[in-house]
Amino acid sequence: MKLDKVQISHFRNIDELSLTAHKSLNVFLGENGSGKSSILEALHYLGFARSFRTSKHKNVISHQKSGFTVFCSAVVEDGMQQKFGISRLANDSCVVNINGQKSKRASDLASHLPIQIFTPQSSDLLLGAPKLRRQYLDWLLFHVEQSFNLDFQVFSKSLKHLNALYKTNQPEQALRYWTDILCQKGEVISANRSSLIKEHLIRLINANLKDFLPEFSFEISYYRGWEKELSLEDAILKNRQRDQRNGFLSVGPHKADLRIKIHGTIAHEILSRGQLRMLVAGMQLAQTQYLHTKTYKSSIFLLDDVGAELDEEKRQVFISKLNTAETQLFVTAIDIKQLDFLKNYNDKKVFHVEHGHVREEI
Ligand SMILES: Nc1ncnc2c1ncn2[C@@H]1O[C@H](COP(=O)(O)OP(=O)(O)O)[C@@H](O)[C@H]1O
Ligand SMILES: [Mg+2]
Repeated sequence: MKLDKVQISHFRNIDELSLTAHKSLNVFLGENGSGKSSILEALHYLGFARSFRTSKHKNVISHQKSGFTVFCSAVVEDGMQQKFGISRLANDSCVVNINGQKSKRASDLASHLPIQIFTPQSSDLLLGAPKLRRQYLDWLLFHVEQSFNLDFQVFSKSLKHLNALYKTNQPEQALRYWTDILCQKGEVISANRSSLIKEHLIRLINANLKDFLPEFSFEISYYRGWEKELSLEDAILKNRQRDQRNGFLSVGPHKADLRIKIHGTIAHEILSRGQLRMLVAGMQLAQTQYLHTKTYKSSIFLLDDVGAELDEEKRQVFISKLNTAETQLFVTAIDIKQLDFLKNYNDKKVFHVEHGHVREEI
């Protein structure tokens, strides 16, 4: 998938902006506060229906405006054109538009555009809660396994129902219906995640890390969210009394985690901040590579402030590897000097960003 035309309105310091993206490399240059990250943030909305900088949608709406819109046309691998859009108003209402069809469910956008982002906050993938690492896995499954989206929705719904029933201390019989659905979908989700990691991701991540962090060897493992020897149903029954007392289900795929260690110690306790970023880069690259080999889809990769985040040599390796997976890149930097090696890429567009406006360099 490649973004073609992009239009952004009333988004942070961007009043109206339209550009035609290059199919492989787009570079945005501008001073601090010019609006570079805001452009990437707007693109992020197309893939996730949310920001990567704030959880409050209204913060990204330009001051004094009632709502923002981001719209794009994209060319799919088979050459067909598709159109996506999202608008949000200050009253928090949201309208998503997919090829002319309107929907109020922001999540409908998520499985269409495979967008990835690397920013100063990306180290949270390792430092933050397990939820972020589950999202890392599920992002791939959403884009690769047709049925995953629906399985995940049904699972989430049954978890919500079951937690509500646990809070009111229902008898076994009343819990049966949602427990059955949760177990059925939960086992499927877990099996999907497990085979993704064991059969593909471990190999891809390790291969990338040989280039990025050759001085370390990594042990990558998956905790599925309940005891190894038990079926999900048995684990739920085993913990039921305690979980009902606490009012929530404590075992299941919603407790899964991806663990990365170096000689038995959790990696982020050993690595420097720069090394941590390289580990994240290696993991994200593995997503791109797997998506590309499995589906021939290519992802749209947003790299914010890459000069500040990675040292010169690593920056170069990361970008050239992303380029090999036919990724469409959107890179920001304050100064072109940070991206000196991009001189070798003839195939690109450079945009200058000033006060929320872009000017394409010709
Ligand atoms: N809701 C908003 N309305 C108008 N301007 C905003 C809003 N939120 C942030 N800004 C401004 O937008 C500008 C762009 O910021 P940003 O995209 O982070 O710049 P860069 O990444 O180029 O350093 C900043 O000057 C910021 O003060
Ligand atoms: Mg920025």
